[in-house]
Amino acid sequence: MNDLDFTGKDKLLALLRDACGRTDSDETVRVLRDGMIRLINEKALFLPECVFEPVEGHYARREIYKCPDSGVSVVAMTWAPGQGTPIHDHCGLWGVEGVWQGEIEITQYELLEQKDGKVRFLRHEPMMGGVGSSGCIIPPHEYHTIRNPDPKRIAISLHIYKDSMGECAIYEPLGDGWYAKGSKQLCLDPVDCD
Ligand SMILES: [Fe+2]
Repeated sequence: MNDLDFTGKDKLLALLRDACGRTDSDETVRVLRDGMIRLINEKALFLPECVFEPVEGHYARREIYKCPDSGVSVVAMTWAPGQGTPIHDHCGLWGVEGVWQGEIEITQYELLEQKDGKVRFLRHEPMMGGVGSSGCIIPPHEYHTIRNPDPKRIAISLHIYKDSMGECAIYEPLGDGWYAKGSKQLCLDPVDCD
């Protein structure tokens, strides 16, 4: 995907170079979050055409850039109306997320207790993010759901991760306040726009 061409890619790469040159990961995340907001608001970056096509049956994950040196991964996600994630973690990797189009609902969960492969969470109030809003996932505060609650419009979000995430832990409700911990393979959708 590194030869994938799109207008404004140079600005994205400049941001990654700046952020990944920081020695402190909190600083890296802060620079990425500020830069993500700037990139969205400046409207100087145009995501590849394919990103605007939802995929039936699951939200689309398209890796539009992978840094060969740092491993940092840039993934555009496309959410058809009603599509979303289960509660999941990010395998201990930091991440920065920004809303590119539409609105995204994010619900954060705090881990309260875990035993025998089961966990309990404190659920925070869902937050709506509109275009240009951005947030960070910094472990251990990494449990959340994302979904597109709009009944008609698709939503697009841009995600920058410390590394490619091939799988993550997911948590399914057992109905008694506990959640069963499982794992999920995270597949990438193709980025060819033909
Ligand atoms: Fe996530």
